[in-house]
Amino acid sequence: MEVKLAESAGFCFGVKRAVDKVYEQIEKADGSKKIYTYGPIIHNQEVVNDLKSKGVETIDEPEKIADISGQIMIIRSHGVARDIYERAARNNITLEDATCPFVKKIHNIVSEKGKEGYHVVIIGDASHPEVRGIVGWSEGPVTVLGCEEEVRKFDIAKDKKICVVAQTTFNAQKFKHFVEIIRENGYDTNVINTICNATAIRQSEAADISMSVDKMIVIGDAKSSNTKKLVDICRSNCKDTYHIQTVKDLLSADLQSGKCVGITAGASTPNYLIREVLLYVRGNDFQ
Ligand code: F3S
Repeated sequence: MEVKLAESAGFCFGVKRAVDKVYEQIEKADGSKKIYTYGPIIHNQEVVNDLKSKGVETIDEPEKIADISGQIMIIRSHGVARDIYERAARNNITLEDATCPFVKKIHNIVSEKGKEGYHVVIIGDASHPEVRGIVGWSEGPVTVLGCEEEVRKFDIAKDKKICVVAQTTFNAQKFKHFVEIIRENGYDTNVINTICNATAIRQSEAADISMSVDKMIVIGDAKSSNTKKLVDICRSNCKDTYHIQTVKDLLSADLQSGKCVGITAGASTPNYLIREVLLYVRGNDFQ
């Protein structure tokens, strides 16, 4: 049986860097300080359980930072608002910053443009931690616009300069469309496209592979929205698409009747889970 594994399957650069940082801290730990992550480091239950078994705890409210005074806190790839760094400093916390450099770049843009007098517009989901973090770096007025209706209703003084940035995972076509609407409405805009193409590359590779196989396997947490999106894309091209969390979910699947099987995985799926599936599909024993 031929197996096609997507090169882009699994962790993006920023998530891998953040997860590696947590495991580095676990290795370095001498027991004198406890390790915390600010928010779950990744949306994958297997990884979260493994970290918990190694003593890593999660906190996710700014007010709780005072309760972990003197300990180690890791900031995940989504990044956080400036206020979280200040609270950590006040509470003598050893900070390990795993903010993805692409997100950090947006923090810097928002901060600089605010100081220069721009009104910052963030195209993205206002409730997403990455966007909340970006908002928390603005030095002036800031507005988050998540849908076309909000973009059309956006109304500030027309002589105000606007700087538009995007949540890193925002859809590129929609971003372009929203920027056009803002410009049509007569605003002087400085647009900085901050979309990261890791997601788009993973989705387009999943589409290509699923078009050319009899069976398609998508590995990822049941709650992972980017995995669900991959499943939808693959299912539209290949009706025998399996969404699995670990190789155990494949035990009852009929893979043998396929001549060619494709495999991809969501952004929060660790490599070892992908490797186990690959070995299983190639006929190796799963331990
Ligand atoms: Fe990943 Fe960083 Fe892009 S976290 S999706 S590489 S912005």
